[in-house]
Amino acid sequence: MEIRRMNKEDLETVVQLERQIFPDPWSQTSFEYEIFHNPFSLSLVLVQDTEIYGYAVIWKIYEEFHIANFAIRPDQQGKKLGNLFFEKILELREGSAFALLEVRESNQRAIHLYQKFGFRTIMKRVKYYRNGETALVMQKIFAKEIRSKEVTKD
Ligand SMILES: CC(C)(COP(=O)(O)OP(=O)(O)OC[C@H]1O[C@@H](n2cnc3c(N)ncnc32)[C@H](O)[C@@H]1OP(=O)(O)O)[C@@H](O)C(=O)NCCC(=O)NCCS
Repeated sequence: MEIRRMNKEDLETVVQLERQIFPDPWSQTSFEYEIFHNPFSLSLVLVQDTEIYGYAVIWKIYEEFHIANFAIRPDQQGKKLGNLFFEKILELREGSAFALLEVRESNQRAIHLYQKFGFRTIMKRVKYYRNGETALVMQKIFAKEIRSKEVTKD
């Protein structure tokens, strides 16, 4: 199992999975923007051979490492792949002062995973999602890596 950059050939599968997984899925255009145009974006897939097991979109916005999208293929959920993928994602944090993400208040499995990796809820955004659900904003501070020097998008 390895992670690599998401590419054009992955798009069809990723968009299909996104529609199966999320009630308010990102569009193909959104993923295209992340892959081809957003200079702050790191779009990733978790793969074995040619099979996609998960995908994620990270925004490295100066000091912030923002996990904007993160999912494991439905038929592979609950088998520790989320743990594996999340660990690999956090290894890419170099240069970031903190990581941030939003998660549905009802998504106990994801919240458990994020807490396990040291994320803490720092605020709630009431009615953040289209169905009126509240988002927890979770953060992990990479204390040792907070530096006063300028952080660039590279
Ligand atoms: C959330 C998600 C990425 C987790 O990946 P996964 O491979 O299914 O999860 P894992 O098997 O690695 O482990 C999940 C952990 O949550 C625990 N868990 C499972 N169901 C749980 C529940 N209802 N409440 C609390 N914890 C739960 C597991 O025991 C495991 O904990 P452990 O590692 O301490 O044993 C995956 O389920 C997924 O893609 N869900 C749909 C999309 C999604 O919600 N993405 C996150 C949006 S913010």
